[in-house]
Amino acid sequence: MAQETQVSIIIPTYNESQNIRQILKSIGEHIPKNVLTEAIVVDDNSPDGTGKIVEDYWKSIKGFTNYTINVIHRKAKEGLSSAVLNGIQHARGDTIVVMDSDFSHPPSLIPKMIESIKSQYDLVVASRYTKGGGIQGWSIKRKIMSKVATKIAKSGLGVDAQDPMSGFFAFRKNIINGLKFDTKGYKMLLEILVKRRGVKIHEIPYTFIDREFGSSKLGTLTILNYLRDVWKLYRFGKPEKVNEKRASVKFLSKAARFFTVGASGLAVNFIASLLFASGPSELWYLHANMIGIALSMTSNFVLNKAWTFGDRDFGLKRTAAQYGKFVAFSSFGALVQLGMVFYLVDSNGLSYPIALVLAVITAAFSNFILNKRWTFREKVWA
Ligand code: GDD
Ligand code: MN
Repeated sequence: MAQETQVSIIIPTYNESQNIRQILKSIGEHIPKNVLTEAIVVDDNSPDGTGKIVEDYWKSIKGFTNYTINVIHRKAKEGLSSAVLNGIQHARGDTIVVMDSDFSHPPSLIPKMIESIKSQYDLVVASRYTKGGGIQGWSIKRKIMSKVATKIAKSGLGVDAQDPMSGFFAFRKNIINGLKFDTKGYKMLLEILVKRRGVKIHEIPYTFIDREFGSSKLGTLTILNYLRDVWKLYRFGKPEKVNEKRASVKFLSKAARFFTVGASGLAVNFIASLLFASGPSELWYLHANMIGIALSMTSNFVLNKAWTFGDRDFGLKRTAAQYGKFVAFSSFGALVQLGMVFYLVDSNGLSYPIALVLAVITAAFSNFILNKRWTFREKVWA
């Protein structure tokens, strides 16, 4: 009687020749006897031959009736999340377990995780940060980075789990039906937690033991990538809400932001001009004022781009082109302001303060419209 595979264990590997055989063996010894399990190793063409080792190992072992081992050979190193996703695509089990191959994730925890999924939970997280869990062998620096990342996820994204960055977790495969993952990221669990709120979660404590062999693949770039991923997740589900707002509300709120930024620019200009004209640098006051103007134009530009117009694409070419237009329109605004003051005071006999207020408002408003339409390429009334 052919049994159906029930559990698929996904194991991403890159240069794990010193660990992979032992971990596959250990997993085989720990999985429950009555559960048909497949291990899926997803190897990114490891230079140390990890993929081949798995093939040979699978051919050499006998005696398991409930355990099979498959390898997916990928052409190049494409990252952790994408490897895991690839493994899931090939998985035949209805329960998925994801774990590292370097013994940081103890295979002895697998039965408990499978049991929890069977009983009632949709998602089980092996957790370092619940009572009874811990970390062994990490430097203070890495511990702090992990804590900070966890804190950001919990308060910034409002996820429930205590260890949303865990790389050791299990879930019912159907909870990710229709879910679009960001293959570039490596925080797969976090993505599930954010995009599938409301699934039943259980956390099981364990002690993460840093690897004995080989080295970690998560470098400094990981931190930057992580911040990008959190930002994307933070925006998840939000764009629709913005679009629902009426055009008038959007127009007014953007105008309000633009003017707020303008006011902040005045402050920057004022403070910088004074600072550079005094103290150790002590520049000629006109030079100091030029620096003040340049700084405030730049801060205005960055704030308007990111905040007022919500344009977070800081690609070099695009940003430089926008900056050029922004500066051009601002200079044009200054001319409008000068011309108006002159005209109002000189030909219409208005008092200088009133003329100034009118001119500033007009110039700011024309700046807003011009930049909205031409620098940031939005419809005017939206
Ligand atoms: N196929 C593939 N491709 N596998 C990869 C890649 C890749 O680009 N990068 C890493 N791996 C594999 C490693 O071979 C290992 O089995 C597993 O993914 C985890 O990589 P490590 O380099 O050992 O990560 P770590 O120990 O620093 O980080 C672990 O702990 C973190 C907890 O803070 C991982 O589990 C992280 O996901 C987890 O967030
Ligand atoms: Mn590791």
